[in-house]
Amino acid sequence: MGEVIVSMEHITKEFPGVKALDDVHFELRSGEVMALLGENGAGKSTLMKILSGVYTLDAGTLSIFGKQYGSLTPNSAREAGVAIIHQELNMCRHLTVCENMFLGREMRSGFMLNNREMENIAKKYLDELGVDINPRQVVGDLPVSKQQMIEIAKALSINARILIMDEPTSALTSREIEELFQIIRRLKSQGCGIVYISHRLEELSHIADRVTIMRDGQYITDGNFTDFTMDEIIANMVGREIKEKFPRVQCPKGKKVFEIRNLNAGRLVRDINFSLYEGEIVGFAGLMGAGRTETTRAIFGVDPKESGEIYLDGKEITIRNPMDAIRQGVVLAPEDRKKDGLCTKLSIRQNIALPNLDVIAGKSGVINRKVEDELCDKAVQELSIKTPNLEVDAATLSGGNQQKVVVAKWLARNSRVVIFDEPTRGIDVGAKVEIYHLMNQLKKQGIAVMFVSSEMPEVMGIADRIIVMCDGRITGELMSEEATQNEILRMATSFENKMSASGGAQ
Ligand SMILES: Nc1ncnc2c1ncn2[C@@H]1O[C@H](COP(=O)(O)OP(=O)(O)OP(=O)(O)O)[C@@H](O)[C@H]1O
Ligand SMILES: [Mg+2]
Repeated sequence: MGEVIVSMEHITKEFPGVKALDDVHFELRSGEVMALLGENGAGKSTLMKILSGVYTLDAGTLSIFGKQYGSLTPNSAREAGVAIIHQELNMCRHLTVCENMFLGREMRSGFMLNNREMENIAKKYLDELGVDINPRQVVGDLPVSKQQMIEIAKALSINARILIMDEPTSALTSREIEELFQIIRRLKSQGCGIVYISHRLEELSHIADRVTIMRDGQYITDGNFTDFTMDEIIANMVGREIKEKFPRVQCPKGKKVFEIRNLNAGRLVRDINFSLYEGEIVGFAGLMGAGRTETTRAIFGVDPKESGEIYLDGKEITIRNPMDAIRQGVVLAPEDRKKDGLCTKLSIRQNIALPNLDVIAGKSGVINRKVEDELCDKAVQELSIKTPNLEVDAATLSGGNQQKVVVAKWLARNSRVVIFDEPTRGIDVGAKVEIYHLMNQLKKQGIAVMFVSSEMPEVMGIADRIIVMCDGRITGELMSEEATQNEILRMATSFENKMSASGGAQ
């Protein structure tokens, strides 16, 4: 067992109205992966932001490699060997990969920036990770998974001895996750200590040596990973037992609500045909890049359609933009909450109220504060959004609670079709179940529900019917009773279907 390299004792941190950390104990040893677990809002990110110098602590002691620090700054933390990959990736979208990697520590020769040297180094670390990214590319053009790899490359390039990964796998494909685990194992064997925060509990057995569990800003317990059963871990996180991870309600299948015919929109939305019925939840499975998100965006009118028809309750409708969609009762909770789903500079109240102004203001066009209050309170309560009040900026919420706000704003209106794209990404076990209950509730109300998810157990556990996509096409459909992981995977990787469907390879 390695030596203790990080020791945090009696750590306390308060934000206006919230005691985020209360007398927390945390210890990391060299050569280990410490899984830091807890529900949304438990204080995991806050604790790690203190260790990486983003936040200062209110009280407590902190030592790194035996040296005591009163408080750290991002620079002094980096010098002490700490690197953090944030949950909400925060790179400068308009800068290049290389510029992001060297931000604040640019290399110079004389007065000039030494771009060539920085690009070479950036390339070296990206190659080491086995990712094909050009250091001159603008970061904003890259998918989230690649951005995450750049953050890791950056951490490697500053020779971090303590690496904090806050939800690193939430946007990665299973292959990328396996690659990341290889990298983590390598860093471990070199004596690095790694803090690993994740809500994907099933992946812990592949990677975690020890666990620290937090709840409501407090330290609950820590120990060797193998000394806990999964149920014990969950019970410690949630403070109660969760019996049903995938609650199901049976409803009779009703009439057809929504139908998509021959939808085409770009390379990843090719000839899409499907229908949604009352009383069912339809899950869209597939690998990252299969075109599921693109399909939801085309339907919702975010991206232009080349062709295709949409029918709602038997009548053809036109959706040219999201406003058209919302007005006719079709709503989308998007995948990238920070970019598309949430105005982080606005309050929770404003986020929930904005898309519902028609409901709140009614015919008079004047905001009815009482209706607004009711609507927002109901949403916050139903989803147990952890916040001191409705007026705080959405940016201050924990990652999972931000996701709940994205979902919450659509619950307020009487929609006919609700589309969720990765609704539970980054959400803790307890809150996941809340979101499933919510989907079930919509289903019971006769609303057509579809969701995109990359988590196979979730698709199999919640959907009544599963549609599988690969390379921009629907490659299969299964009732969930008959679905197996293997069958879904086979459909998700049946690239050849496309060739036969389009009359053979060119
Ligand atoms: N900058 C801030 N201002 C105000 N409150 C904050 C701020 N940062 C965090 N909080 C609050 O502190 C608490 C802990 O949040 P934190 O982000 O550490 O949770 P977490 O365990 O990382 O959750 P998640 O799993 O959802 O990411 C939450 O109640 C959150 O709203
Ligand atoms: Mg967090």
